[in-house]
Amino acid sequence: MNRKAEVNRMIRMRRLRVNEAMRSLVRETSVSKSDLVYPMFVIEGNDIKNPVDSMPGIYQYSIDRMDEELDRVKEAEIPAVLLFGVPAHKDDCGSEAYNDEGVTQQAIRHIKKKMPHLLVIADVCLCEYTSHGHCGLIYGNEILNDETLKLLGKMAVSMAKAGADIIAPSDMMDGRVEYIRNALDENGYINTMLMAYSAKFASGYYSPFRDAAHSAPSFGDRRTYQMDPANRKEAVRECENDIAEGADVIMVKPALAYLDVVREVSDRTDYPIAVYNVSGEYSMVKAAAANGWIDEKRIVMENMTAMKRAGAKIIITYHALDVANWLREGE
Ligand code: PBG
Ligand code: ZN
Repeated sequence: MNRKAEVNRMIRMRRLRVNEAMRSLVRETSVSKSDLVYPMFVIEGNDIKNPVDSMPGIYQYSIDRMDEELDRVKEAEIPAVLLFGVPAHKDDCGSEAYNDEGVTQQAIRHIKKKMPHLLVIADVCLCEYTSHGHCGLIYGNEILNDETLKLLGKMAVSMAKAGADIIAPSDMMDGRVEYIRNALDENGYINTMLMAYSAKFASGYYSPFRDAAHSAPSFGDRRTYQMDPANRKEAVRECENDIAEGADVIMVKPALAYLDVVREVSDRTDYPIAVYNVSGEYSMVKAAAANGWIDEKRIVMENMTAMKRAGAKIIITYHALDVANWLREGE
């Protein structure tokens, strides 16, 4: 044995990186089209395609104009869309949210008829439907918890009846997952999946979304129901609670500033984890890319990889069409 060589042996990590074939052989994380969920905004009315100014490339569509976007979803082979309805009529109890003829319910029926295999996820929350823009019923300046649950239950059943495959409660009221699960089961929707926005933080990253969904609160903020961005342990408890209440998938939202939470939750549970790469995260990338300051494709794919590496299985992202098309080009 050549003793000298043994003594001098260096651990050469760069052997793993000599060329793309070698790098892909040892690559630990991959992003695939089947991980992606594309959020869509459907607005009441006719012949509408409104650009959302703070989210370049994202539009509000009326149902009669949705097909062009749905065709792109099909072409990109994205498995699921997350639907947000923007109703014409709002009131203090968000009654369009649980009107079987509401804009969201009609949009779900439209999509399921046109593309039966596309999974439709219905966001369940009142803020797009209430005149005050809060996610629950209000009494003075207080956001009521238990009274709100009944409406969320009705909303979830109405969405399931319209054909939603997945119900995604995003309101952050306590006990809503169990309440909604029971409501669905009692109405025969035992196979409607529940993807709970479990660790949803009170975040500044949601502001472009509120332009898109017309859901900004008219007074106060959401800090009495959404989580404090400083809390990791509490996020774990939120996830554990939702699992105990019957969630099938748990979610961490936003994604990029909260990847430590994703990692922690994924170390502690075998339940599938979704992350929501939210509007502000999208807008920042788009703005920097429009200025030529970053390489959009490279940055977006790096972000997608980071979310998977942190432990997410499902990625909800406004970049979904681009990501799916880039992945296909690379095939
Ligand atoms: C509604 C809801 C929000 C988002 C998804 N569902 C906004 C909020 O809580 O104010 C944010 C999505 C995004 O920013 O892309 N509760
Ligand atoms: Zn809400």
